[in-house]
Amino acid sequence: MGILGILFKNSAFLIINMKYFQYYLNLCLPFTFGLLIFCSPKNPPLPDLKSTLDGIVTKLYEEIPGDSLNLLNEKFLLGYLSEKEKSVLSNQYWILEVNQPVRISLMRHIDQLIIPFWLPISGFEKTDLLVKNELHTYEVWQKEEYSGKINLGINGLDKHRPVYFISLDPLGKREKLEIKPIFPAEQHFEIFQPGAFTYHDWDGLKITEVPESLLGDVLLTTIRGRAREAHLVEAFRSTDFPSSSIPDLTVLHWNSDPKTTISINWRTGPNLTASRVDYWVKGDFDTLSQNSTANEIEDRLLKNDRFTLRHTARLIALRPGTAYEYRVSTDLEHGKVFSFETEPISTEEFSFIWFGDMHNDPKTGQLAQDATKRFPETKFYISSGDLVNTGLHRDDWDKLFSYTGESFSRRPFMPAPGNHDSQDGLGAWMLQSQFDLPTNSPGAEYEERTYFFKYGDALFLMMDGTLSIPDQAAWVEKTLSENPTKWKFLTVHFPAYNSVEPYPEIQDYWIPILEKYEVDLYFSGHFHYYMRSKPLKEFKSGSNSNLIFVHSASAHGKGFEKYNQDASFTILSFPNDYLYQKIDVQDDALTLSSYLADGQLLDQFTIKK
Ligand SMILES: [Fe+2]
Ligand SMILES: [Fe+2]
Repeated sequence: MGILGILFKNSAFLIINMKYFQYYLNLCLPFTFGLLIFCSPKNPPLPDLKSTLDGIVTKLYEEIPGDSLNLLNEKFLLGYLSEKEKSVLSNQYWILEVNQPVRISLMRHIDQLIIPFWLPISGFEKTDLLVKNELHTYEVWQKEEYSGKINLGINGLDKHRPVYFISLDPLGKREKLEIKPIFPAEQHFEIFQPGAFTYHDWDGLKITEVPESLLGDVLLTTIRGRAREAHLVEAFRSTDFPSSSIPDLTVLHWNSDPKTTISINWRTGPNLTASRVDYWVKGDFDTLSQNSTANEIEDRLLKNDRFTLRHTARLIALRPGTAYEYRVSTDLEHGKVFSFETEPISTEEFSFIWFGDMHNDPKTGQLAQDATKRFPETKFYISSGDLVNTGLHRDDWDKLFSYTGESFSRRPFMPAPGNHDSQDGLGAWMLQSQFDLPTNSPGAEYEERTYFFKYGDALFLMMDGTLSIPDQAAWVEKTLSENPTKWKFLTVHFPAYNSVEPYPEIQDYWIPILEKYEVDLYFSGHFHYYMRSKPLKEFKSGSNSNLIFVHSASAHGKGFEKYNQDASFTILSFPNDYLYQKIDVQDDALTLSSYLADGQLLDQFTIKK
């Protein structure tokens, strides 16, 4: 391929071929003079966005006093960043490759006050076109690109959540357009038309208006949470509970059989990888030790505690029905002595406590401590999600485990994630790296998010409702068919039936399976009010199921005026309040009691078998 363009460099005119011209267009044009040095074909490719932002944050911590970090505005930061860093921010946020020339349309939210700094100088031109979805209006910027790599920049240094998205119109034959995602490695394509998703992690937000000239383009949806990837303006946080050399925030889980195993998880500051658990049968002198494995957890914007270690020690070959004591230690420090009990060989009666949305609320933490004291016979806790407000903010997890005191250090805590724990399509990695939950999941991407465990003659299906509902249906059926226990419970954040926004996918894909296998209770949350349904057979035609749906919140949140408006399935509903539920399982009966924070009984019902 021949000669295409002429560039001015080092006082000489250079004739470059197509490959280098494209390289120049993609990476250098925005900063022709300042950045040419970094974009010469002799120089290595630009680093990736994450490592560049990690480095920028490190430099800010070294050079800017902590109490001034949130005073830095975009103008200051653009002057502070090196030309190379700005080039990364301008080119490495979204990379794809096309096999023919295309017109790119970039949809920018019109309420975003600051235009992404790279956009006007990258060859994009603002048009008069507007695209709308059910909530927002986007202005359209366009440019034409040759075949090859397309490099796009960040949404901004602030956290403007309706992030931009793009569409491609091939200038050649549409059916021959090939798009190869480079970064992110997975990208999602749709036909640009009303009804298409805007963000593929938000199927409730559909495109409503598309200008005629863009109809039929290839739409590349994105993830809502990507606004967080380059967040630097008013971005810095502190934890109220920073880590130290003393092990703390100890939480128990069952990764395996509750009769013979337990998983102990705790936190230390960084560089304390040598940590262990000493444990013994209560009243005995023989002590065993188990070393931990440690995960580093980085929250880049947590200015007083960026790096911590989360340790896990799995104890195995324990004696069933036995009280143990344990203490977590490092080479330098000892934690406090706690105790736990393994499940007896045969359990006909047991009690557990279920928390709805907790949202790292201090009052909810106190509620958990009060419930633990009031009902010492409790064997474990479950949660139906929204444990914290922002699942990728470690300071929120610190609050959850600090406010709940020693509750989860003495009895296992078995949660199902909510939409706040798996935030904005960015995943639940912080939950997964802190917990040690079962991996008997529908697949690798569901591990520690959807799982089951058994206690006594009861099966607990703990579901991540933020992941695909249809794709998990086969696992629900398989798990129920292979585990024919007397009592069966399903926990998922989203209430299939509610007075605000029912979940037809759960109703269609899961409920028939729950009916078939005679599941007893469905625990959920999300809408912060209390609701107990009639048995399913009383409001679903043709059903013989006694399944009862209960949803509850353990923390205050947005109130819902419509909490009690659908009498077709509701037996009892109660507005937004601090609540927890105790479930007493007996041989032939189960009683659910719902309590207010002051201990008053709000609701109670019994299911008999
Ligand atoms: Fe929620
Ligand atoms: Fe919530």
